[in-house]
Amino acid sequence: MTKEELDRLIAKMTPTEKSEFFALIAAEKKEPVFKDVAFKAQTAFLEDQARMKVVLCTRRSGKSYGAGLMLMRDAYETPNVSCLYVALTRASAKRIMWKDVLKTIDREQALGCRFNETELSVTLPNGSMIYLLGMDADEQEKDKALGQKFKSVVIDEAASYGVDLHEMVYGILKPATADYRGTIAMIGTPGNMKRGLFYDLTKGQVPGEAGRWEKMGWSGHRWTAFDNPHMADKWKAEIEDLKLANPLIEETPLFQQHYLGKWVIDDSNLVYRFDYEKNTFDELPPITKKGRWHYVLGIDLGFNDPTAWVVCAYHDSDRTLYVLGAHKKEKCDITEVADQTRKLMGRFDFDRIVIDNANKQAVEEMRRRHDIPLVGAEKAGKADFMELMNGDFVSARIKLHKKAAAPLIDEYSQLIWDDRSQRREEHPGCANHCTDAALYAWRHCYAYLSDMRQDNGLRYGKSEDEWMLLQEEQELERLLQEKRNMEAEIELYGDPLDRLN
Ligand SMILES: Nc1ncnc2c1ncn2[C@@H]1O[C@H](COP(=O)(O)OP(=O)(O)OP(=O)(O)O)[C@@H](O)[C@H]1O
Ligand SMILES: [Mg+2]
Repeated sequence: MTKEELDRLIAKMTPTEKSEFFALIAAEKKEPVFKDVAFKAQTAFLEDQARMKVVLCTRRSGKSYGAGLMLMRDAYETPNVSCLYVALTRASAKRIMWKDVLKTIDREQALGCRFNETELSVTLPNGSMIYLLGMDADEQEKDKALGQKFKSVVIDEAASYGVDLHEMVYGILKPATADYRGTIAMIGTPGNMKRGLFYDLTKGQVPGEAGRWEKMGWSGHRWTAFDNPHMADKWKAEIEDLKLANPLIEETPLFQQHYLGKWVIDDSNLVYRFDYEKNTFDELPPITKKGRWHYVLGIDLGFNDPTAWVVCAYHDSDRTLYVLGAHKKEKCDITEVADQTRKLMGRFDFDRIVIDNANKQAVEEMRRRHDIPLVGAEKAGKADFMELMNGDFVSARIKLHKKAAAPLIDEYSQLIWDDRSQRREEHPGCANHCTDAALYAWRHCYAYLSDMRQDNGLRYGKSEDEWMLLQEEQELERLLQEKRNMEAEIELYGDPLDRLN
């Protein structure tokens, strides 16, 4: 029967027939089901009563769909409540949730939702709403979305935020779920940023062994796309294809992150080519050749961010830069920075103290009031100098003290490029305080280290060709000097050739 035929039939019914007819349809209408019992791991996540849940999975494991089921269920079960879905950007929130998850669930469960494309919000017939929010939204939009009380909140793509989610979860979202004793679910696949709340909660978990864990009051769930009955076969075929194309694919960090769900860093994405084996030391080498040690201090100033101090040393007869120590401290005022710097000055006789010059007032105050001889760091061409510094890491010409420079080692091991940016920019979510302080100090030392010559006058690390070039340069310089002397003499005494005329 077509819709028109049905409408004609209903129109002919008496009021009693009509109400009997609709009562019959209502009785027939099934209650929606917000889970797929064949999908055990996702169902375990959905049925978990914990108020804070965290999910670590591979790609395509059903994280987002599971989150969509949770939001729809919570909005459906309690009238007039709000639920929130947060993704990295508004565009990704829409791409992930809108058509493939929320509209699909609405259609399959015949919920009768209204979708507002401009606001990215869904209204259920019971008055409940689901909002989609991208972290890139402007402040006003964010305030509007976040300034409510929520029955449930999902934070998707949790490994990729530039900001640490700590503040957002405990400062904003957790209080916003208090009224309903609502739920927060944070879900994601490992990424390159081994830092922040999501990492802290999920490190050491291997999705390949599906299961549960508890940490810091959060209930953890992990599984892979093999546990997702809607994906398992396709996932298997996909991995086979990848292996066929590249037999070593399993060793790549991307495969380990996305296909195995492991927290490994893609080294190629690290900003500095620091290698723990190659670039650390326990004790300074005993140097018997002539010369002395030079000490340089690098300081990166911050107030909300930590201030960092990095002490470097090199010897006249050794081209290696030794980082003797690194230290960082949050919320230092100028006097504290000056005191800490003085303390270091008491221990080392610095050739130079190089400081980030962005806060000129603070630097000037330390120079004048605290009598610290600071030199502003060169900032232009940062990217070029990072490249040069990387050359020194690769050729083991920079070494960090394993213990005393630990905060710097930590930063080198975690600082990655921001792959969301077109330009080569450091990821704003990673700490770069000690790394910047070290760069300022290294940049000052670099000029001396690269100009250092061996006993034969040859620059370190240069070839025989360069030795020949050096000889030629010296000969040319000698001839030029002779010419200059001659010209000076002519100026004083006149040209001897003139006197012959
Ligand atoms: N309960 C379910 N019922 C039906 N289909 C499901 C269910 N759970 C997951 N799927 C399907 O499995 C596939 C992967 O799901 P989803 O997109 O949620 O995975 P994901 O882990 O978020 O992936 P990504 O890492 O790419 O974001 C999709 O095609 C989705 O429709
Ligand atoms: Mg997803």
